[in-house]
Amino acid sequence: MVFKLSRKTGMVEVSGIRRLFELASKMGDVINLGIGEPDFNTPENIKEAAKRALDEDFTHYTANVGIPELREAIAEKLRRENGIDVDPESEIMVTSGATQALTMAIFAILNEGEELLIPSPTFVSYSAAALFAGGVPVEVETKEEENFKVNVEELERHVSDRTKAIVISTPNNPTGSILTRRNLEEIAGFAVEHDLIVISDEVYEKIVYEEPHFSIASLEGMKERTITVNAFSKTYAMTGWRLGYVAAPQPIIREMVKLQMYTAVCASSFSQKAAVEALKGPQDSVEKMRREYARRRELVYRRLSEMPKLSVLKPKGAFYIFPNIKATGMTSEEFSGYLLREARVATVPGRAFGRDGEGYIRISYAASYEKLEEAMDRIHEALTRLPGG
Ligand SMILES: Cc1ncc(COP(=O)(O)O)c(C=O)c1O
Repeated sequence: MVFKLSRKTGMVEVSGIRRLFELASKMGDVINLGIGEPDFNTPENIKEAAKRALDEDFTHYTANVGIPELREAIAEKLRRENGIDVDPESEIMVTSGATQALTMAIFAILNEGEELLIPSPTFVSYSAAALFAGGVPVEVETKEEENFKVNVEELERHVSDRTKAIVISTPNNPTGSILTRRNLEEIAGFAVEHDLIVISDEVYEKIVYEEPHFSIASLEGMKERTITVNAFSKTYAMTGWRLGYVAAPQPIIREMVKLQMYTAVCASSFSQKAAVEALKGPQDSVEKMRREYARRRELVYRRLSEMPKLSVLKPKGAFYIFPNIKATGMTSEEFSGYLLREARVATVPGRAFGRDGEGYIRISYAASYEKLEEAMDRIHEALTRLPGG
């Protein structure tokens, strides 16, 4: 049968990463540095809280927006750590991970044909969500030589009377760059001037190495036009718990609640109880993981800097490093394929993160130090085998 399915879903391609991973899964002895999640397990105190919730039969639907206890804990966290003052009753919703929060946010604001500015390279979900919404993702290049900062002149070149919003991500996946307060002030000025909504994805806020994280919604006049998205996934190594949240002006939350109602209904009940413990309990495991990522960052940065045909910026956040591979003469997909075959190391071609990711590969250092050392040896060896290497 020939199916005539949705044009909107048809416009979104399955990520090119998949083919490479399918190949990798059929090969033995592959070190997988393609994965975008912590290699740590969820801290014990958080797991205990979920077990208690299960024992207490906290296994039913919750309110669409999430349990009050968690919304209050989120509001308190946002006030204390991010300088964002929101009402837990009307300006917060708990979601099934940041991905659902982002998708619902984009659905709630974009009409057919309206444009979403997406500084690129960046996380893949934003443009897919814009397409599903019938909107138009507009990629705006960020440059390695500018530390992948969001260049406001470049934004000005892409803004139109159909532009509705801009999505920013700090720290960034895949570049490991962060947006400084100064850069965020420039973006805020641009958003106000063009009357745009800002979607700010801050899931890696706790994984920073040099400068503290800064939230755009804390800038004067920005709270009323910003949708702040965060999750427990990366900070607390809780990717499988599917728990995130969004803080936004009430009219936006109101629309998002409708989407929640008719898609997921609510985030998982006992995950929400665990998340309360994550926010209110001891935070030492977060710092422990961050320190280990920092140690690995030093290793991969030093090793990649020494390799022929690669150049690399030292990442300032998240657990990714994004070497420039243009001197190999290969496309990012070819080079990732080469590393898979010749070094048995899986990486992600930069192209998977948008047009402007071409010429780079993403390496995740959310893998053990020993594995990273071995992977760096293998990559170095494979590079020396290239002509002129
Ligand atoms: C920048 C960014 N935002 C959001 C997500 C999705 O997070 P979650 O697992 O909470 O849906 C990811 C996952 O890789 C990410 O890199």
